[in-house]
Amino acid sequence: MKQLLKTLTETFGPSGYEDAVRDLILKEVKPLADEIRVDALGNLIARKKPLKGAKSPKRIMLAAHMDEIGVIASHIDKKGFVRFSNIGGTFGRYTLGARVRFLNGVKGVVGYDRLEQINDLLPINKMYIDVGATSKADCPVKVGDVAVFEQAFTEMGERIAAKSLDDRAGVAVLIETLRGIKSTQNDLYFVFTTQEEVGSHGAGTAAYGIDPDLGIAVDVTPTGDTPASLKMVMELGKGPCIKIRDAFMLADPRMVTWMIQTAEKAKIPYQREVLLVGSSDAREIQVARAGVIAGAVSIPVRYVHSASEMVDYRDLKNSVKLLIALLGKDASL
Ligand code: CO
Ligand code: ZN
Repeated sequence: MKQLLKTLTETFGPSGYEDAVRDLILKEVKPLADEIRVDALGNLIARKKPLKGAKSPKRIMLAAHMDEIGVIASHIDKKGFVRFSNIGGTFGRYTLGARVRFLNGVKGVVGYDRLEQINDLLPINKMYIDVGATSKADCPVKVGDVAVFEQAFTEMGERIAAKSLDDRAGVAVLIETLRGIKSTQNDLYFVFTTQEEVGSHGAGTAAYGIDPDLGIAVDVTPTGDTPASLKMVMELGKGPCIKIRDAFMLADPRMVTWMIQTAEKAKIPYQREVLLVGSSDAREIQVARAGVIAGAVSIPVRYVHSASEMVDYRDLKNSVKLLIALLGKDASL
């Protein structure tokens, strides 16, 4: 899974431009799935059918988003400096000084107009991308071109730092889960979604199309384990987090109970997640059509939405174990 994660995180895929990521995933899931399709929003849907003779199989939708945060060029000045806006939650403090890469391969460095106070808030509308151009005419970027952070995948013992671990970590976990499930009593839809970072649009339309009984998002969750972080219990290395609440959603208590009991029975470490900021695809799945029983398995991550997000590799492996334990058997909730 590590090599797969490296390739996934080093691939370009801001919201709406998930094509390269989808191609990679397609190669992995093709031999594992019974049916594959791509819908109008670009979601990749891989179905694993229930065993013949399974009585009243439940339709379960799993979702991990392919897209990552990024930036979009909005103006180019006569010296060739590129002004930009955010795609999703791109924060100034993480963007200044970063390197970015555009879809056409052009690279740039993010600078700031003029720092009066070194500790000022850093709004991105005072930033620009320097792509090495000297004029508007020789600037290789057009208005509307999109870019993501440029950053290498780095291993630090069990910890991994990379861009877009939100949510390529979830993508890798879903692929490995599909690989690990030999047979199932359920009708499983592994959905690699688009446009999560701009409002979970892909998950919403995919859930409408699939009409699942149960929905589980596999995404990352920020932790409370760094100096002076928010008071949250989630930590790196302590296992997958079972979502109870985040800023925009209450996970279904039946889903929470099912996940906790399954983890305890299988002796898989897990954490209880109450997240104070952000949400996931589970929110859109929960309110799709007439409503879906939904929850999430979250991988703890530090420095979310920076160019160097960090996970503990053991949490990914335990997330795969938990999902296999949940999905292989009868979904009894
Ligand atoms: Co995110
Ligand atoms: Zn995410």
